[in-house]
Amino acid sequence: MIKTLEWTEAGVRFIDQTKLPTEEVYVTCKNSEEIADAIRTMIVRGAPAIGVAAAMGVALGALQSKATTLSEFERDIDRICKVIADTRPTAVNLFWGIRRMRDKFDQLRPLPIDKIKSELVAEAQRVLAEDIAINQAMGRNGAALLPSTGAVLTHCNAGALATAGYGTALGVIRAAVESGKKLSVFADETRPFLQGARLTAWELMKDGIPTTLIADNTAGAMMRLGKIDAVIVGADRIAANGDVANKIGTYTVAVLAKEHAIPFYVAAPISTIDLNTLDGSRIPIEQRATTEVTHLAGRQIAPDDVHVENPAFDVTPSEYVTAIITERGVAHAPYLESLPKLVNAN
Ligand code: MRU
Repeated sequence: MIKTLEWTEAGVRFIDQTKLPTEEVYVTCKNSEEIADAIRTMIVRGAPAIGVAAAMGVALGALQSKATTLSEFERDIDRICKVIADTRPTAVNLFWGIRRMRDKFDQLRPLPIDKIKSELVAEAQRVLAEDIAINQAMGRNGAALLPSTGAVLTHCNAGALATAGYGTALGVIRAAVESGKKLSVFADETRPFLQGARLTAWELMKDGIPTTLIADNTAGAMMRLGKIDAVIVGADRIAANGDVANKIGTYTVAVLAKEHAIPFYVAAPISTIDLNTLDGSRIPIEQRATTEVTHLAGRQIAPDDVHVENPAFDVTPSEYVTAIITERGVAHAPYLESLPKLVNAN
């Protein structure tokens, strides 16, 4: 399995996703600021992966704290949490990872500082191991929804690279293939950062799953030709009413899927469901650099000073979502009822 990130003696090691697919290189972040930079620059990206990276960032920062009293140590931890929280606003998993570590710190207060540090490192490693298990459970829950033969379209990268391993949307595809289904995948290239072309195509080909790369604007034509049997995507944040924030372009695919009566599935862990956000209009949408649109592989493709909008995510209203697949089961509309049941189940 691809190791998206791992805890090592030297720091937290990431496969550098900005270099894939042409170079498979690794970056070791030696402190929490470097981890925050890796998240901001998308060396690591994908909602669950940045949640795990955030947890590791807090653990690494805590481990390196020079505090000698609990109150100094707490101030350090709060500063580290803020540095990591200020990286990317949309994926709620980032804040979930930070909160989990902050809550763990609160539980550990009575212990000596050295013991708190080692327990925080252990907690971050648990977050990583759990993420893989969660994705495998999601895969088992979602595999039955996919057809026994046919083609599935996906957008962006919701694979092993977007998680600690196995993937959410691609995890469901992997589980379906492992169960004997004969599936192929259409991967949208996903302008402007090209996660589909660079990452999804790379990791599916590594697994031997038949993959066809298409330009984003080809999806509708493929649907009309009857070449697509289902759509499955991941999510960065799911509001209480089932509205889904995911990579820019997801909404377009969802509308096309509805027009062609093709099921549109979202696969995401419980940590992506944000019951405190009532609907999609309240989800903060990250705006990224205009050069992602005006330049392609470092080459300028648009006139100087052209006005650009580059929202990194869009919101798909819940009416387009056939089902939301989680590690605890599958939710259907009305999501205001089904999502709290899953979130509060245990
Ligand atoms: O900007 P990115 O690459 O971090 O965006 C990633 C996505 O939109 C994914 O679809 C989402 O995080 C789900 S990943 C399992």
